[in-house]
Amino acid sequence: MILPIVAYGTPVLKKEAKNITQDYPELDQFISNMWETMYEANGVGLAAPQVGVGIRLFVVDATPFAEDEELSEQEKEQLRGFKKVFINPELEESGEEWAFNEGCLSIPEVREDIYRQEKIHITYFDENLKEHQETFTGLPARVIQHEYDHIEGILFTDKLSPLKKRLIKGKLNNIAKGNIQVDYKMRFPLASKKR
Ligand code: NI
Repeated sequence: MILPIVAYGTPVLKKEAKNITQDYPELDQFISNMWETMYEANGVGLAAPQVGVGIRLFVVDATPFAEDEELSEQEKEQLRGFKKVFINPELEESGEEWAFNEGCLSIPEVREDIYRQEKIHITYFDENLKEHQETFTGLPARVIQHEYDHIEGILFTDKLSPLKKRLIKGKLNNIAKGNIQVDYKMRFPLASKKR
């Protein structure tokens, strides 16, 4: 089932999400809905708060990045197989910061260069609630950091300079009101009732 993605300005996007317990109801169904929703919107990652659910869960499929001609065969291969569910993750970051032009399904038509550290170490549970500890660099790390921020209640636009924030304020207000064209199902916090 495709779930509506909540837009910038929706309170759940600003809240720290909660860990789930092993008996979380209908987890398999929820994860399957997350995949369906993400693919329908052509995203490479989707976090539970983006569909209005305040739990520490996100899904990532970095396969589309593997088409980038500038990458080495080894990097492409790494991205192709990169499809994972992260539940109750804990993240540690290290290394130099590098910039990448990020976007977000909750903030359509806004893209900005965001600096993040290059290396991450993450502990998480997969869809079978099996625990993993892994280290990532490059684009896989980048996508995970963006999604992890979502479950911490942080959006990539929160990381912009005060000037940049001021420059895109009008755009963000329009997104919250639903005054944008978007080709996937969304819910806007400040939309007028008749929408
Ligand atoms: Ni996002």
